[in-house]
Parts: sequence; C-alpha cells; structure tokens
Amino acid sequence: MTPAFARPATAPALLEVDNLAVEFRSRGGRRVHAVEALSLNVHPGECVVVLGESGSGKSVTAKAAMGLLEPTAHITAGTIRLSGVDLLGNGPAMRQARGEQMAMVFQDSLSALNPVQRVGAQIAEMFRVHRGLGRREAWARAVDLMRDVAIPDPERRARDYPHQISGGMRQRIVIAMALSLDPQVLIADEPTTALDVTVQSGILQLFRRLADSGTGLLFITHDVGVAAEIADHVVVMYAGSVMESGPARDVLTSPNHPYTRALLASVPRIDQAGARTPIPGGLPDPAHRPTGCLFAPRCPLAQPECRNTRPVLEHQTPDRQAACLRVEELLHVDVI
Ligand SMILES: Nc1ncnc2c1ncn2[C@@H]1O[C@H](COP(=O)(O)OP(=O)(O)OP(=O)(O)O)[C@@H](O)[C@H]1O
Ligand code: SF4
Ligand SMILES: [Mg+2]
Repeated sequence: MTPAFARPATAPALLEVDNLAVEFRSRGGRRVHAVEALSLNVHPGECVVVLGESGSGKSVTAKAAMGLLEPTAHITAGTIRLSGVDLLGNGPAMRQARGEQMAMVFQDSLSALNPVQRVGAQIAEMFRVHRGLGRREAWARAVDLMRDVAIPDPERRARDYPHQISGGMRQRIVIAMALSLDPQVLIADEPTTALDVTVQSGILQLFRRLADSGTGLLFITHDVGVAAEIADHVVVMYAGSVMESGPARDVLTSPNHPYTRALLASVPRIDQAGARTPIPGGLPDPAHRPTGCLFAPRCPLAQPECRNTRPVLEHQTPDRQAACLRVEELLHVDVI
C-alpha cells in the first residue's frame, strides 16, 4: 500500500471549492448538515481523493461541484470555481462547465446504463447530442474511445448490450461516456466499489493514466487501500467536514488526525493478521451535530474541551492541514 507519488501542483487549480456548506431541509423543518466548511483544490494532472466513511458527505460534495444537488439541498456558504469562474448562482457557467469542462462518474452509474441499447450506441449518443456528429462518425468515435479505456476488441464489444459484458467492462463504458466530452476535470464517485479486487486494479490504472495525461481527477472512496493506490492528495472527511488533508504519501503513512489514524488502523492488513481495529460507534446524527469536535464521541484522545470547542483546519506545514485541538501533541506522539 504505497501511496502514489505526489506531484508538485504548480499550475493554477482547475477546480476550487472554498468553504462549502450544504444542508438538506425537509418539509417538516428538519435540517441535515451534510457538508460544512469544505475546501479543496484540483490541479491539472492531479488526483485528489476524498476519503471517508459512509455518510461523511463525499457524494454531496461531488454533486455540489457538478451543480447536480437534489432540490431539497441548499448551498448555504462557499464558492465553487472552475478555471477561476465562479459557478454558484451562475446557471449558464455551471451548464457550460458540466457540458464541456467537467464530467462525473456517478456512484450508482453501473445501473444507469440503458439495458436495451448497445453500449457503443450509448457512447455514440454523447457525441451526437453534445458534438452534433452524424451516426457513422459518432459510432467510430465511440469505438475509438472504447479502445482508449482498454476494452479489448472494441468493434465487436460496441455491439454488445450491457448484460453481455462484465462489471469491469461496464464500468469502462461508463468512464468512456464521461470522457466523451474530453473534460478537464473528472469526478468519480466510488467507481470501483462494485467491482472485485482484480477488476478494480485495472480501473484504477485507467484513472491514474488519465491523471498522468493532465486531467484533474476528484476521486471519491471510503477505501483506504484504493486511496493509497491512486491519490496524489487526500482530503479526509468525517461527518461533512474535513478532518485532515495533505499529500497522500504523508497523510496515509503518518496521519496527523486521530480520525485518520483510526481509519488506517481499521484496515485489514495482510502482514498483520487479526490486527484490524474497527472504529467504535458511528457518525453523529447530521441533524443534531455535536457542538464541539465532531469526532469527540469516538475519539480515544478526547478531552473535556473537545466536547465544547469545534476545532478548525489549521496548517501544520504549508501543504498539510488537520482539525484537532490536540494536533500539536499528536505530531510528537504515536498514540493510535
Ligand atoms: N437527499 C438527501 N436528503 C437528506 N439528507 C441527505 C440526502 N442525501 C444525502 N443526505 C445526507 O447527507 C450526508 C452525506 O451524504 P453523502 O451521500 O454525501 O455521503 P457519502 O459520504 O457519499 O456516503 P456513502 O459512502 O455511503 O456514499 C448524510 O448524512 C446523508 O444522510
Ligand atoms: S479535537 Fe479532541 S476529540 Fe477531536 S479529534 Fe482532536 S483529540 Fe479527538
Ligand atoms: Mg456517496
């Protein structure tokens, strides 16, 4: 589990999310704080992984960036910029970004393929609708794209229906559809979760190649091993907030936050049979979040002050941040 090499991000960021807050409001007045004070940047050629347990706000963040939140979701703070252009409250800019500069592979995308349409036709349709290509040219481009995402014998495979190909191939088709518009930024929400491990690794290599060719990748996963395989930069989310962020090789080998440490300790390791330590308890109720540190009810290092004061993200080094009242002590102690 060696984290991918972190490249220096010298070019200006493509996607900039700053201080984002999203809440859901129900008719009965219940408010669910799904995301709070979230900031992240994605540079060209960089793979930024958002890592966190189920319910931590990963998909809401991704959908907010794409302007595809449900009507009950409200963005209450923050900005989302693509190549410097503010997308929030700017419908035309958001639509243009979504159609031409950003694409997303959705969490449930495998089931979104049309079961009664040939996979090649589903990709070709993207070229027909968005690029105005004729039937023949769109089909040829679809086959080329299938080759690009390493589908063997693409001319023949293009004529298959989704049920005739494996889960891994279906995921490659979904990725090809997202790539058909040649996006600068690709958001992928748990794109390997439904796949078995051997297939996963081929898809991760495909994403890695995309990032290496200059695409900015925002990759969402709950799986520490997947993050280690593909990330340049990791943003660790918990209960809608960022707990820690920094270069993958640092965060995943010497985490500064108790939550990240607990998350790493919860991963089964081949070299340490039986050493897995699941994190006790669960996420706080998003409608009744603790006033202090969100992780305090589960944190083995919590002190009384942690229950009253919400820590904010602070820099430990220019490229690393953590939100923990005891971070300075942790930097010197290998506690968890
Ligand atoms: N449509 C919705 N209405 C109300 N609350 C929602 C809605 N969608 C998400 N939430 C809440 O927002 C929070 C974040 O959800 P999100 O789907 O972003 O989690 P996630 O990190 O993607 O989890 P998973 O790993 O299970 O996909 C959760 O508390 C969830 O219950
Ligand atoms: S602020 Fe306190 S409770 Fe929260 S992670 Fe740090 S030590 Fe644990
Ligand atoms: Mg999700």
